Amino acid sequence: MTPSLDTKLPKVGTTIFTVMSALAQECGALNLSQGFPDFPAPEALIEAVARHMRAGANQYAPMAGVAALREAVAAKIAACYGATVDAVSEVTVTSGATEALTDVILAVVRPGDEVIVFDPAYDSYEPAVELAGGRTVHLALPAPAFRPDWDAVAAAIGPRTRLIVINTPHNPTGRVWEAADLERLAELTRDTGIFILSDEVYEHIVFDGRRHESVLRYPELAARAFVVSSFGKTFHATGWKVGYCVAPAALTVELRKVHQYVTFATVTPIQWALADFLREHPGHWQELPAFYQAKRDRFCSLLAGSRLRFEPCAGTYFQLLDYSALSAERDVDLARRLTREAGIASIPVSVFYEHPPASRYLRFCFAKDDATLERAGAILRGL
Ligand SMILES: Cc1ncc(COP(=O)(O)O)c(C=O)c1O
Repeated sequence: MTPSLDTKLPKVGTTIFTVMSALAQECGALNLSQGFPDFPAPEALIEAVARHMRAGANQYAPMAGVAALREAVAAKIAACYGATVDAVSEVTVTSGATEALTDVILAVVRPGDEVIVFDPAYDSYEPAVELAGGRTVHLALPAPAFRPDWDAVAAAIGPRTRLIVINTPHNPTGRVWEAADLERLAELTRDTGIFILSDEVYEHIVFDGRRHESVLRYPELAARAFVVSSFGKTFHATGWKVGYCVAPAALTVELRKVHQYVTFATVTPIQWALADFLREHPGHWQELPAFYQAKRDRFCSLLAGSRLRFEPCAGTYFQLLDYSALSAERDVDLARRLTREAGIASIPVSVFYEHPPASRYLRFCFAKDDATLERAGAILRGL
């Protein structure tokens, strides 16, 4: 007889991304739910992976990542944020940003510690905090501006606060933090033992001339921070699951203790290929803002005349649409109904909250080819 297993994650079910993608497939609906591009990764990158596989790069990579890739990451950080990070002791390649996020939380959070997250929050943070025995403190980013309320943060910080998780550009709202936000965060954590986990997977997807305010631009914050990014987002290859974490050497030592036993090392030929591509094609990530801004603008212009209201997102490849003029249904119900009846799948934003507010938003991913966006626009205008 199988012994009964008391769950360690009672609040966790199958993620909404899996649920909505499966429903979209079952119904033959356009899938604008899960955040992945429906266009290919760069050809030169794919060729580089094949080249390195054929050349024999098929055994375990070094635990912290292929040196050439860590050096390429350090060079990109210097170019983007003017920060000097040591490729050897401060950069760790991980199996997707998700692994890095979980590693950081397991390395930092002790039983009884509190971790502040901002709702709507990416769904992987809280389960990791629970596995570490910590408690998640949810602070709302109030709609429709979704800006952090720094007085609320100051009030929430206490002797048990161990970690603050931030995410800019922000999934699901598409908002981007400003310099003043980072300065306030530095002020509130100054002279404390609090660490920062900065989820910056959309660092290169920022629009209208805005600047991505990486924690790495702020030395005082960077000294207490783990900065996480994802090559999947930057190179249209989410299925490869390769990301990285940058942190001061002493913090990286602890991070690697977890990484070493969660996965040991990340897929080898892809690391070599990414190192080549970053070195040989810096134009790719430099052109990403314009590339995705054009998609955002196309998607938004296709919504002209629809009953959905929105403010164009400032970053990421997600657009929130306010459907309150259309329906009084719960977003979870509407998302399912639109998938079944209208043939378009989205993500209900309430699932990113501990206490969902009354506002009514669905999240649509516009990392899609133009034909998909045209079809989506036609469906949404008809609602
Ligand atoms: C905010 C945020 N963090 C982390 C991740 C995970 O990135 P990866 O696929 O590299 O694990 C995602 C993916 O959607 C995300 O949106």
